[in-house]
Amino acid sequence: MERRIETERLILRPLTAADAEDVFEWVGDPVVNRYMPYALYDNVGQVREWISTITNDYNHFGFELRSTGKVIGSGDVGFDSERGAYGLGYNINREFWGQGYATEASKAMIQWAHETLGACSFIACHALANPASGKVIQKCGFRFEKYEQYSRLDGSETFEAAFYSLHLENG
Ligand SMILES: CC(C)(COP(=O)(O)OP(=O)(O)OC[C@H]1O[C@@H](n2cnc3c(N)ncnc32)[C@H](O)[C@@H]1OP(=O)(O)O)[C@@H](O)C(=O)NCCC(=O)NCCS
Repeated sequence: MERRIETERLILRPLTAADAEDVFEWVGDPVVNRYMPYALYDNVGQVREWISTITNDYNHFGFELRSTGKVIGSGDVGFDSERGAYGLGYNINREFWGQGYATEASKAMIQWAHETLGACSFIACHALANPASGKVIQKCGFRFEKYEQYSRLDGSETFEAAFYSLHLENG
């Protein structure tokens, strides 16, 4: 199964160890990390180690800028077996916010999952205090479902959040 998606401005493809320095620019940034479940990274070595653990079943992609080759974000459409749907997630290097990249990449990942994996049900959520992410979710065509909470993986913080779903027709 081809793990490469080309959009107008991006190439979405698996991260490699060679991307670790680019990735550290956002996974080591407390502003980007503010509403993400994962803990802030301290150094590039930790990022390299994390990248080596990403297996195909995460449906995780690095977002490479076609114009420069720099990796400016990453995201995934991993299957959430508890909810029986593919969960959309993304984060972007702060220097590249506000240019439509998260939306461009997210739409492409959803289309890829639909066409390649036959995925029809998707879910997404964002902290109420993080409205930019809500905009991305809405621009991808999701519908609001409910308010709930989610927590950071280490349990250190819980966020009030809006949950959404998207249902596409079979192939
Ligand atoms: C959320 C995030 C991925 C958005 O990335 P991006 O590439 O800037 O997103 P886009 O440019 O595609 O769309 C952002 C939208 O939010 C809007 N927006 C930005 N800041 C906003 C704010 N404070 N309030 C409301 N809308 C806001 C933008 O105007 C844009 O909408 P528009 O196209 O209608 O103008 C990025 O801010 C990020 O990486 N944040 C940290 C990680 C994160 O929160 N990930 C999601 C966890 S659920």
